[in-house]
Amino acid sequence: MSDLDKKVQPATELLPGAGYPKQKSKYKSVAIKAGLVAFAFFISAATFSARGASRGSYGVNTDVCSQAAELIPEKNGVIWESSNVRYDTLPFKKRAVKWLGGAIRIPTETYDEMQPVGIDPRWEIFHVFQDYLLEAFPKFHKALKLTKVNTYGLLYEWKGSDASLKPLLLAAHQGVVPVENATLGQWQHEPFSGHFDGEYIWGRGSSDDKHGLIGIMSAIESLLELGFKPTRSVMLAFGFDEEIGGLDGARSLAAVLLERFGPKSFAMLVDEGIGYGTQYGQVFALPGVTEKGFLNIQIDLASPGGHSSVPPPHTSIGMLAKLLVEIEENPFEAHLIRGSPTYKTVQCLAEHGSEMPLAWREVIRLSQYSDEALREAEMLLLQNPIIKSLAGTTQAINLIRGGIKTNALPEQAWAVVNHRISMESSLNETTSRQTDLLRPLASGFNLSYTAFGAFLSEPDVPAYGSLNLSYAPGASMDPAPVSPTDGGAAPYDLLSGTIKAAYNSHRDIEGDDNIVVSPGIMPANTDTRHYWNLTDHIFRYRHVRLGGRLPNNPHTVNEVMEADNFIEIIRFFTALVLNADESELI
Ligand SMILES: *[C@@H]1O[C@H](CO)[C@@H](O)[C@H](O)[C@H]1NC(C)=O
Ligand SMILES: *[C@@H]1O[C@H](CO)[C@@H](O)[C@H](O)[C@H]1NC(C)=O
Ligand SMILES: *[C@@H]1O[C@H](CO)[C@@H](O)[C@H](O)[C@H]1NC(C)=O
Ligand SMILES: *[C@@H]1O[C@H](CO)[C@@H](O)[C@H](O)[C@H]1NC(C)=O
Ligand SMILES: *[C@@H]1O[C@H](CO)[C@@H](O)[C@H](O)[C@H]1NC(C)=O
Repeated sequence: MSDLDKKVQPATELLPGAGYPKQKSKYKSVAIKAGLVAFAFFISAATFSARGASRGSYGVNTDVCSQAAELIPEKNGVIWESSNVRYDTLPFKKRAVKWLGGAIRIPTETYDEMQPVGIDPRWEIFHVFQDYLLEAFPKFHKALKLTKVNTYGLLYEWKGSDASLKPLLLAAHQGVVPVENATLGQWQHEPFSGHFDGEYIWGRGSSDDKHGLIGIMSAIESLLELGFKPTRSVMLAFGFDEEIGGLDGARSLAAVLLERFGPKSFAMLVDEGIGYGTQYGQVFALPGVTEKGFLNIQIDLASPGGHSSVPPPHTSIGMLAKLLVEIEENPFEAHLIRGSPTYKTVQCLAEHGSEMPLAWREVIRLSQYSDEALREAEMLLLQNPIIKSLAGTTQAINLIRGGIKTNALPEQAWAVVNHRISMESSLNETTSRQTDLLRPLASGFNLSYTAFGAFLSEPDVPAYGSLNLSYAPGASMDPAPVSPTDGGAAPYDLLSGTIKAAYNSHRDIEGDDNIVVSPGIMPANTDTRHYWNLTDHIFRYRHVRLGGRLPNNPHTVNEVMEADNFIEIIRFFTALVLNADESELI
């Protein structure tokens, strides 16, 4: 997963250490607990027992956070059974470790400033990676047709016997974020060793995203060995530059897929995303049904220079500072909105999280009908910085420059403000809002004002200096469309039922509420931003258990993947391919 500004922040770093606002209300202790639980929201550090005492007394409202039934392959039941038997064997585990370890050993690092494919020699390592795939997955490469897109993009087609069925699209990326040389000493095992210590597989890419790519290929190799022949076609899109925006990889793959299959031609798409873990005493899976938008606004301020012995009351830097203070003093409002993805996540947690404080569960449940309860729920939940960030547009002033000398007035000063746009908003609304916010200061300082190409000052009136807002270099994006989850949305239900089948099969348990599936929001960005036109049903989900003995550590030192966890990923993809294959609903 990546960020569009290429300076990637791992999901675990999004988590607050401490220090959310003190509050004086009666909800204080509850809010503090919420902060702790929110920590578990993404990395699920705590593991509680699966059943809490308060659950029985609360009851479950089946209309809220409705759950699809576990979906066990039937037509393909024999293959599913055989797969499960083999995945539990030691020889298969050894193969899985070898497959992933081998992929990690090829350092497919992608850097922020890379020249195009064909010019920058650093791309060439992807040839080595692809040779490895060819050698490691022989049956796969016999059965699937490979098209290389923009040299390193891999598009595989596994043709089904029934061309009238919309294909399943699975995505993953080959590239990884670089390992910083300064951190080499902190790795317990070398970052590209693919070392297996008997429990964990070590190295860069093990949990972002080679576990996904190799997981898909391992599942298909194994299905082929068991004699499976698809009815529904399966397409695999493996980009290579996801960590730096996907412009050369996923964007090119999307163009080819669109050309070949047409718009909205895929039954569903599953790419990297959030996993599953324990929250409030219940195991939840949180497939991302959308992604927040992304925008960097550049603020350029110019005013006359000169010797600093006779200064004006405000220099370019002083005026810029005032603008930035204005921005910070006016954060975007965050709201809990009925029907929004954030609201649905919260509802699922309240409905099924037996260890969530009862007062919380009550107010969230009432908030469906009562505006007062909704406001109360909002007040409680938005104390939590993660929920707050999901519920609204955020802004952060991340870059600033200005001035060249201690005794010269600065002619130029600039800053960049990063925004993550809420699902209810848009790029346009965000730029308009910031433009309006700064307008009074621009005229107060007697600056001509240009915002996103529009000249907003009185024409021909002389000004002391100029203020210019613009898109900072780099990508921006509107929030992703929200994939349907309500009212029997067949692809979401198929995904949910598959998650349950994979989870239950591994643990040899039966029943539907062992793992609850809730719509989630992807906090970072993925290659799916290029795939919107291919299907309405996009899910960002890896069947990765969060909260194991060691954290997975994507993007940082000591990135690992537990071998048993990796086998669950393979099992999940197996179930997904089989279920999609036999479904008449998607
Ligand atoms: C790390 O050091 C190697 C060898 O000195 C160099 O080639 C490479 O570019 C460095 N990597 C980074 C990320 O700085
Ligand atoms: C952008 O937003 C403004 C105000 O929010 C609105 O008036 C305008 O129609 C929008 N433009 C587009 C292209 O959506
Ligand atoms: C703005 O600055 C210009 C240039 O210094 C000056 O001519 C003009 O009178 C100023 N206008 C106001 C309203 O201060
Ligand atoms: C504002 O900034 C944009 C982007 O840097 C630039 O293209 C444009 O010329 C600037 N406009 C003014 C009036 O300075
Ligand atoms: C989807 O298609 C529309 C219309 O052709 C195009 O403008 C848009 O950029 C496409 N979106 C993506 C994410 O490719």
